[in-house]
Amino acid sequence: ANKLGSKKERTLAMVKPDALTRIGDIIQTIYDRNLILTKAKMTKLSWEQAADFYAEHQSKSFFNNLLQFITSGPVIAMDIMGDEAVSTWRELLGPTDSDTARREATQSLRARFGTDGTQNAGHGSDSLASAARELEFFFPSTVGRGPPNTAKCTDC
Ligand code: PPS
Repeated sequence: ANKLGSKKERTLAMVKPDALTRIGDIIQTIYDRNLILTKAKMTKLSWEQAADFYAEHQSKSFFNNLLQFITSGPVIAMDIMGDEAVSTWRELLGPTDSDTARREATQSLRARFGTDGTQNAGHGSDSLASAARELEFFFPSTVGRGPPNTAKCTDC
C-alpha cells in the first residue's frame, strides 16, 4: 500500500472473440471504475498459444471447448492498472457464466455482452501471480530491457 493506503496493481484483461465489437463500452467501463488502460493488443491466438495460456485448465472437461472458442477469432489483451485492479476487473466481469450474471442485481460486463458459459465476453487474471504470468504472456518484457512484468505497481 502507498501512503494513501491504496493498493495499485496491474492485471491482464482479455476481451474474448464474442465481445470484440463491444470494446468501446468495455474501455468506458474500465475508466468509469477508475482503472487505467496502459497497454492493449489485438491478436488471434493459435491453438498452441491458447493451450499455453490456459494450461492450468488442461485436465478440465471444457478445455477443448474453451480453446475452440478462444481461437475462433481475435482477442484484445489489455494491461489495466489501478486500485486492487485484479479483483476490481473480475468484479466488473461478473460471474463466469453469462446467464448467471444476468440473474444478478448488478449488471456486469458478462451480463451485458456475454452469451452463456462458453461465450462469456472476457477474462481476468485471478491473482497477482497469474496477472504477472499473463501480462508476460501478452506483453513480454525483453531480456536486457528492464525487469519482467510484475502485477504490483510501483511506478504508477
Ligand atoms: S474452474 O474449474 O472453476 O477453474 O473453472 P472456471 O473458473 O469456472 O473457468 C475457468 C475458465 O474456463 C472457462 N470455462 C469454459 N469455457 C468453455 N466452455 C465451458 N463449458 C467452460 N466452463 C468454464 C471459463 O470461462 C474460464 O475462462 P476465463 O477466460 O479464465 O474466464
